[in-house]
Parts: sequence; structure tokens; C-alpha cells
Amino acid sequence: MSLHAHVVGWGKYIPQRVLTNDDLSRMVDTSDEWIRTRTGIRERRLVKDGETTASMAVQAARQALEVARFNPSQLDLIVVATITPDYLFPATACLVQDMLGATHAAAFDLLAGCSGFIYGLNIAAHLLSSGAYQTALVIGAETLSRITDWSDRATCVLFGDGAGAVILQADENEGGVLATTLGSDGSGGDILRLPAGGSYAPASHQTVEEGLHFIQMKGRDVFKFAVNKIPAATREVLEKAGLTLDDLDLLIPHQANQRIIEAAARFLALPPEAVYSNLEWYGNTSTASIPIALSEAVEKGRIQTGDLVVCVGFGAGLTWGAAAIRWTRPLPTPVPRWQRIRRRLYYSLAALRSRLRRLLRWLSSFWTRNGLYGRRGRKK
Ligand code: UT7
Repeated sequence: MSLHAHVVGWGKYIPQRVLTNDDLSRMVDTSDEWIRTRTGIRERRLVKDGETTASMAVQAARQALEVARFNPSQLDLIVVATITPDYLFPATACLVQDMLGATHAAAFDLLAGCSGFIYGLNIAAHLLSSGAYQTALVIGAETLSRITDWSDRATCVLFGDGAGAVILQADENEGGVLATTLGSDGSGGDILRLPAGGSYAPASHQTVEEGLHFIQMKGRDVFKFAVNKIPAATREVLEKAGLTLDDLDLLIPHQANQRIIEAAARFLALPPEAVYSNLEWYGNTSTASIPIALSEAVEKGRIQTGDLVVCVGFGAGLTWGAAAIRWTRPLPTPVPRWQRIRRRLYYSLAALRSRLRRLLRWLSSFWTRNGLYGRRGRKK
């Protein structure tokens, strides 16, 4: 019996705060005209104080769970692909697990630049088709505004914040994730990176003064790499699935630059309507861009049951990857009010459960210190 990983839920979260090109032209030496013609971006969304990668990931995940009609306790695995985790550790995926109340899920973060979501999809799909797990939540979420140098016009006009999520379920029926392909070339690590904050250059006054905690990018090099990799990875994944470009209904590329998307479409001889683009409104949201675009495409009716969709990403590492998906789910009917209330109650209980566990942990360590070892720390 062979199992297939079907996409049964999808969701996205876009922060409310809008930053337009005109706003940026008041911050750095740039213009709406330059940004639109060189990138295709008009505006991007930024988090407000208190919002983080985890909080956005949870919003997108809740939507995906609602579409799938799943309870968080049914999840076996949570993968969060991000280059802007809340902390280096613990993993953002564990924060998401706790906030959702996904009591039976394993959880980990995945760092593969803007290709992270495709890497996550690949891993989750393989774990499901091997029979190891039944249900997986794969999220791409970024708070790029917190690692952007807002005085560097070459990068600050490009990025935005947001999160997207899908739920995969193992099923004997044909369809779902048909094939995936991944690749990397670490020799290009220096063309897109965050130089400090890791073990190579831990945070210090000097790293902060030199602005090494912000994204650094050689834009033209990334551009050339992307224009080559999108068509190559798309062709490769279709070949692996035993299909051709003629079978393709929609290509969803990583949303980095409209010129990159159009050049790749030209190489593949795809008409504009066969390639999804929304970066005009959100900018480049790194690992979040593909799941946000995927959710939006389904919501707008651009993906129908039976369609063949290819998602293709590229980014820091360097990394790239593509996934060919046969869409097997129609748009869900609206969730009844009582179910929405039950779900809200579940999330409130998850928050209460989390607090109780923290309290129990505190009480247990208090008892260990003062009960077992006595007040001075000596064993009784
Ligand atoms: O997720 C993956 C991450 N990144 C990417 O995918 C980015 C890929 N690369 C790109 O999208 C493009 O290379 C950029 C949009 C970043 C830059 O476009 P470009 O056409 O490659 O411009 P450029 O870097 O060659 O710069 C051209 C000129 C330069 O001025 P000079 O030296 O010709 O006088 C820049 O200083 O444009 C100038 N420039 C700007 N001017 C106004 C660079 N940024 C700006 C700006 N506003 N924001």
C-alpha cells in the first residue's frame, strides 16, 4: 500500500501595517518609480510591536487547521521554515506547538533560506508517505523587517513580513505531493547572508556598530542565480513526476522580483496567467512567500481540484527546490459558528495548559531546591 501526502489545509497571515514605496522614498534615496520598475513591488506589510514570527505562524496555522477541519491535537509534526526565528533556540516550531495546543506533535525549525518552505514540504511529504506520520503542518514565516537595515536602499525596499501554512495528510488515494527536488551550493553563501549573531561572529558592540545583524546581499548575483534555477528546478521536478510543462496549470515561484518571475516564465515559455505573482502587495517575504501565494491562489480560484501546481523556490545558502502537487481539495464550505467557538475555546485552553505546565515546572524546581536539598542547598 503506497501513501501520498495531500494538501488538505492552507492559510496565511499578513500583518496590517502597510509600508508603501512613497513611505520608503521619505526614508532613503529611492522612488516609487525605481522600486516598481526594478522589482514590481508597490507596498509591503510589516509587523507591529509584539508580533513575531511565531505569532504570525500561529495565525496562518489556525487558518490551515480550520480549512482542513482538524483539531491541533491531530498533528503529528510541525515544521517551521524561517530565517527569522523568535530565538536561535528554542525552535519557533515549539512555540507554535505550545500556542496551538498540538499536544502530540514533534516540532522543529528548518533553515534553508527562501527555499525553506519547499525543503519543509519535501521532508514532511516523505515522512508521511513512509507511514511514519499521518498529519503534518508546514509553515513558512518571516519577520524580515527586524533584520533589515532601513538605511540601506539596496535591500530595504525589497522585504516584507508574513506567514503561510499548509497541512499535509497521508492518504492512499493518488495525488498530493507528486515529486520534489532540492539542491544547494554553499560556495555562494556570501551573496546573501546575515553575517553576525551566530558562532562565527557572536553579537558584540562591534558587530552591532558595523551593522552586521542586517541582511547583506549581492543583488545582481542572486538575480542571475534565480533566473537560471527557477526553470531548471521546475523542469526537473516535472520530469521526476513523469509530467511535462504542458501538464502544468500554475507555477508558484518564490516572490522576490517581478523581473525574475517574468524571465523564468519566458525561459519556460509559460503564459503570464500560468504564473502566480503577488509580490506587488507583499514584497519578498522569504520562506513565507510561497505558502502565502499558494493560499491566496486557492482562495482566488486560481487553483481547482485536479490542477497540477509547481512551487519553486531559491535563496540563501545557496539553496533551491521545487515541488509538484496535484491539488485534490476543493474550497471548503464556511465553518459553522459553533465550531468556530469550540476552536477559540480550544486555543484558550491551550494557553491555560501552557501556563499550568510552567507553574508545575516552577513548583517542582522550588520543591527540589527547598524540600529535598533544604534552604542552604545541602542534601538533607
Ligand atoms: O529571496 C531572494 C533574495 N533576493 C533577491 O531575489 C534579489 C535579487 N536581485 C534583485 O532583485 C535586483 O538585483 C535588485 C532589485 C536588488 C537590484 O536591481 P538591479 O537592477 O540589479 O540594480 P543594481 O543593484 O544593479 O543597481 C543599479 C543602480 C545602482 O546605482 P548605480 O551604481 O548604477 O549608480 C544602485 O545604487 O540602482 C541603484 N539602486 C537604487 N536606486 C534607487 C539600488 N537600490 C536602489 C533603490 N532606489 N532602492
